Amino acid sequence: MAIERIGVVGAGTMGAGIAQVCARAGFEVVLREPTRELVDAGLQRLEGGIARWVKKNVVSDDEAERIRDRVRGVIALEELFDVDLVVEAIIEQEEAKRGVFAALDQGCPAATILSSNTSSISITRLAAATERPDKVVGMHFFNPVPLMPLVEVVRGEMTSDATCDAVIAAAEKLDKTPLAVADVPGFVSNRVLMPMLNEAVFCLYEGVATAENIDGVMKLGMNHPMGPLALADLIGLDVCLAILEVLHDGFGDPKYRPCPLLRRLVDAGHLGRKSGRGFYTY
Ligand SMILES: NC(=O)c1ccc[n+]([C@@H]2O[C@H](COP(=O)([O-])OP(=O)(O)OC[C@H]3O[C@@H](n4cnc5c(N)ncnc54)[C@H](O)[C@@H]3O)[C@@H](O)[C@H]2O)c1
Repeated sequence: MAIERIGVVGAGTMGAGIAQVCARAGFEVVLREPTRELVDAGLQRLEGGIARWVKKNVVSDDEAERIRDRVRGVIALEELFDVDLVVEAIIEQEEAKRGVFAALDQGCPAATILSSNTSSISITRLAAATERPDKVVGMHFFNPVPLMPLVEVVRGEMTSDATCDAVIAAAEKLDKTPLAVADVPGFVSNRVLMPMLNEAVFCLYEGVATAENIDGVMKLGMNHPMGPLALADLIGLDVCLAILEVLHDGFGDPKYRPCPLLRRLVDAGHLGRKSGRGFYTY
């Protein structure tokens, strides 16, 4: 099925970036937030992304104008029913996402593919909130969306080949590299990344080295562009903890046990960059 119109539900950090790359690739985009203020804030985020592209000469002024013209901000979910593909990018809460999927399933044409940008929630469980589980799939973009080339395409238990093929083709049109993975806790990205970040937190907790030296070892010795503790601060320590809990619960394996220091920082409200303090002070 050829995808021409894309609905993006949620215009936060990820949704605004997803709308931006979709509009640049020529798709008509409907971007939804539940109130006027939130729609305006989402369009503002999108505008910030487009302005950065213009400043870096990634797009011309004319192209920037065409990108803006292809995005329509809406409040009512019904206004995006008439699309070929939905990318859901609301908060990481299963009940909220299931509600959106059930409503989309009721309103969208039978052919519409429903995808989620979730970092950790089971695609199979989201699909179960619909009557079209074969057309539900994960499209896991990475932050910042305009820069990061990967889309993890997450295949749920019931996802059809046709659905996977359609979103792989759409991701390629966005100039991204889609990589197919199965629907297991953390997919591949967070299953590999989060235990590494957690191990770095354990090193700090056990006094193996300072935060700077732990990050320095991984940057200088492993050629990582950013150390694991600085990366955890960037992602958000609450987000890291939530994903580790999904891994721990999902596999029932103690190797995913979140480090007590991570839990303590989250309890104290030290969530990383977004709160001004995590492993480092900002
Ligand atoms: N931030 C990241 O680095 C990152 C990376 C990959 C995937 N993700 C995933 O992307 C999703 C969004 O994350 P984010 O960082 O953009 O969050 P965010 O908090 O920046 O944005 C979420 C947006 O969803 C909106 N929203 C909430 N309920 C809604 C609803 N019912 N309908 C429409 N909009 C609604 C909120 O108003 C908010 O603007 C999550 O599932 C997250 O796990 C995030």
